[in-house]
Amino acid sequence: MADKLEGRVAIVTGGARGIGRAICEAFVEEGAAVYVADLHGGEAEALAASLVESGGRAAGGYCDVRSTDSVRDVVEQAARAFGGLDILVANAATLTPKATIETLEEEAWTQALAVNLTGAFHLCKHGIPHLKRAGGGSIILTASQMGRVARAGSTTYCTTKGALIQMAKGMALDHAEDGIRVNTLSPGGTATDRMISQFGTMDEAEKQWGLAMHPLGRLGQPAEMGRGAVFLASDDSSFMTGADLLLDGGYSAR
Ligand SMILES: NC(=O)c1ccc[n+]([C@@H]2O[C@H](COP(=O)([O-])OP(=O)(O)OC[C@H]3O[C@@H](n4cnc5c(N)ncnc54)[C@H](O)[C@@H]3O)[C@@H](O)[C@H]2O)c1
Repeated sequence: MADKLEGRVAIVTGGARGIGRAICEAFVEEGAAVYVADLHGGEAEALAASLVESGGRAAGGYCDVRSTDSVRDVVEQAARAFGGLDILVANAATLTPKATIETLEEEAWTQALAVNLTGAFHLCKHGIPHLKRAGGGSIILTASQMGRVARAGSTTYCTTKGALIQMAKGMALDHAEDGIRVNTLSPGGTATDRMISQFGTMDEAEKQWGLAMHPLGRLGQPAEMGRGAVFLASDDSSFMTGADLLLDGGYSAR
């Protein structure tokens, strides 16, 4: 284990699977105590148990980021379990069907905003008082390269991700004097279940999305996003706030 996050406490929403899971693993590897919060509560608990078994400090449980009460509960649980809170990672996102604004069902629009955007609002709202109490901290909102460039058929997703980038900038200004840094982490296509939902198999995702759209010729790996999150959470990024860390294999450079 390394020690870039030694003595820090983090909560990660959408932490049971994919990129969130890799962030939890990387944080524990660097010495942080991590609370895994996820709609799949059993998987969150199982991940926390396996992190503890391998010598780390972790806990986890059910959380629906759409609900302010649910997020408040896990924030309080995390702070109680580990004696405070230093790092918030708003990472949960929902899958939005491919559609234009004209054709998207209104319910899918509402769902995208509720999970991707209001979920981040809930975590920050309930988490910031704890970070202030700790004398500062780091907030990471998982955005996307799609927060910077648009893609036909993905307007709703792009809208939520662009908004997160702007939300981080505003919060960075609001909380600089509290010693709280706020940044977004923007992955490009990354090999998670999300890719299988969209392309059927990971091989197809690698071909149609990784190779075809990313100049580095492949999808990113969740662990690569975990390392980016460690950078943003740790003192390695001590002079960085209101910024977007783009890890997209060159997708948006074209
Ligand atoms: N995979 C990619 O290609 C990619 C690219 C750019 C950005 N991202 C972003 O990275 C983040 C993680 O993506 P991923 O690919 O790991 O996704 P994923 O679908 O594999 O995992 C998302 C996790 O969020 C949880 N979740 C969903 N709704 C929730 C809710 N209401 N409350 C609590 N938890 C909830 C799920 O249970 C799951 O564990 C998302 O914000 C996504 O938009 C992913």
